[in-house]
Amino acid sequence: MIHLDMHGTRIPALGLGTFQLPSNTATYMVEAALDIGYRHIDSAQIYDNESHVGWGLQRSSVPREDYFLTTKVWVDNIRSNNIQRSVENTLKNLQTEYVDLLLLHWPTPDVPFSQSLAALSELTRSGKAKHIGISNYNCQQVQDACAHSEIPLLTNQVEYHTYLNQNRVLDTIRQNNMCLTAYSPLAQGRLLNDAVLQAIGQKHSKTVCQVALRWLIQQGQVMAIPRSSKLEHAKENLDIFDFELSDDDMKTIDQLTQNQVRVINPEHLAPDWD
Ligand SMILES: NC(=O)c1ccc[n+]([C@@H]2O[C@H](COP(=O)([O-])OP(=O)(O)OC[C@H]3O[C@@H](n4cnc5c(N)ncnc54)[C@H](OP(=O)(O)O)[C@@H]3O)[C@@H](O)[C@H]2O)c1
Repeated sequence: MIHLDMHGTRIPALGLGTFQLPSNTATYMVEAALDIGYRHIDSAQIYDNESHVGWGLQRSSVPREDYFLTTKVWVDNIRSNNIQRSVENTLKNLQTEYVDLLLLHWPTPDVPFSQSLAALSELTRSGKAKHIGISNYNCQQVQDACAHSEIPLLTNQVEYHTYLNQNRVLDTIRQNNMCLTAYSPLAQGRLLNDAVLQAIGQKHSKTVCQVALRWLIQQGQVMAIPRSSKLEHAKENLDIFDFELSDDDMKTIDQLTQNQVRVINPEHLAPDWD
């Protein structure tokens, strides 16, 4: 496993995503993922499976302090000034006293940071969140959020994969001493048949998904949270720490980002992307 050392914490760069995992699958996959060596789980209030994720965590024999757990506050709870209570409910669902990372799920330009980020800061003071951050913020929004946050923001969780160039967001994040968490790191399966990734994979005896995930993590200050409903896929996705892509491999894959494929782009939530 590669770790990121951020804000005094050692964070596993690869985690398990839980979006769209049906209830029993979420429980099974979270427990199984921890069992095979995952130590980073990504969840969200809106995924409607937090309590099933919580059962998976509960069933696992891995102690709470040994894994990194993220959740995200949904926009309705940000807009209705209900962050604190909603997080208390989330912690009950996840069956834990704290999350390691608490994110604002989407930008809400209509809500002042003195309300949203201040509520996150308060949750760190009461021990309910170790770190805070944002998700789906564009560069200007990242700058504004950093300028208004009492506590340093750890990450901006955004879509990032071999078919989407995120150089501008990455530059902004690095300037602000944050990391980027790559969501939909497999472009929800759209890159599975890519001939360039296949050819690079053959050289290293690795699969397309392994090459795509390695490309993300090898950049530094980037974490990836692939989701899978299948144990064999979760195992495959974790098996990316025994090889290295060459500089040429990295540059060849960089070229694919010109495809500019964006799989998550909800009209009513998305900012003007950079
Ligand atoms: N902050 C946000 O707004 C936001 C938005 C979207 C996602 N996320 C987070 O990011 C996580 C990942 O993104 P995502 O769920 O959108 O998509 P993803 O991880 O890019 O792709 C998931 C898809 O890839 C397949 N897959 C996974 N590993 C595979 C493998 N080794 N071989 C073949 N197929 C494989 C899965 O199918 P199988 O189930 O068959 O393996 C599934 O269909 C989410 O679960 C969520 O935690 C956050």
